[in-house]
Amino acid sequence: MMKKIVVVGSSNTDLIIKVPEIPRPGETLLGGEFMTFPGGKGANQAVAAARAGGDVVFIAAVGDDPYGEEALKGYRLDKINTENIKICKGVPSGIAMITISEKGENAITVASGANALLSPADLEELNEVFYEADYMLIQLETPLETVQKAVELCNKLKTRVILNPAPAAELSDKILEKVGIITPNETEAESLTGVIVSDELSAAEAADVLHDFGIETVIITLGASGAYLSDRATSTRSMVPGFSVQAVDTTAAGDVFNGQLAVSLAEGRELERAIVEAHAAAALSVQKLGAQSSIPRREETNYFLNRNLKQ
Ligand code: RIB
Repeated sequence: MMKKIVVVGSSNTDLIIKVPEIPRPGETLLGGEFMTFPGGKGANQAVAAARAGGDVVFIAAVGDDPYGEEALKGYRLDKINTENIKICKGVPSGIAMITISEKGENAITVASGANALLSPADLEELNEVFYEADYMLIQLETPLETVQKAVELCNKLKTRVILNPAPAAELSDKILEKVGIITPNETEAESLTGVIVSDELSAAEAADVLHDFGIETVIITLGASGAYLSDRATSTRSMVPGFSVQAVDTTAAGDVFNGQLAVSLAEGRELERAIVEAHAAAALSVQKLGAQSSIPRREETNYFLNRNLKQ
């Protein structure tokens, strides 16, 4: 049976220009063709979980504009349950302006629009949705009061929480103490712990600070080096290497990692194996342009794993 994942988070449309390198302040650069892709950290994670084989409910807010309409169409094509996506009248949908360098790095600016209107009250009647979920996946592109309400509901209903603390923000103990698994990158780990994370040793130090908040499992993603896993329940501390591929666009790689991770864990994989599967999905996504346009289906991820783990 398909595992149930509830994703609470943002829905954006990504406006993208490829440039030779990310412009410095005050600089004007001539870039390549202008492109539009569906994005938003919450939506990318919902799509990644759905394409990984999860039965996904996405809780979000969009505006009553063509961007919002297109986004909803896309989620339905991916068979995501959109019943709990609120359409805000007279409000624009979320927009992200993204520049992508030739090396595949990006710089992103977000106008939250309707995402900022996803409120704790919107979760009020959704006990059943949270109760039935194997995992709840949440990020920080929607208001923090809403994030807090979601983690509280999950705690009450014994639904496991994966927090991807992106973009970096200061979080209260009230949120952190209710998280089961946290998946920051280096920058986000630093902003939550004060530890500059650059390697396995510093990642271990940051993980200890996060454990002290009561979080059982810490997975710090370290770009091309892979991910550092620290799990209190099994006393596991290890680096889980990623796959080496030529990146075209790293946008949404973290989202794809999280979406696949949630499904792999819900299916009962051990943490390390779930991380390897999440790395594989992310490695496939960075080889294509765009956020949701680059997210692989489970068959592709499995094929990639079979080929690359045999070598
Ligand atoms: O994580 C990538 C996403 O961040 C993009 O799709 C963009 O919309 C921003 O939310």
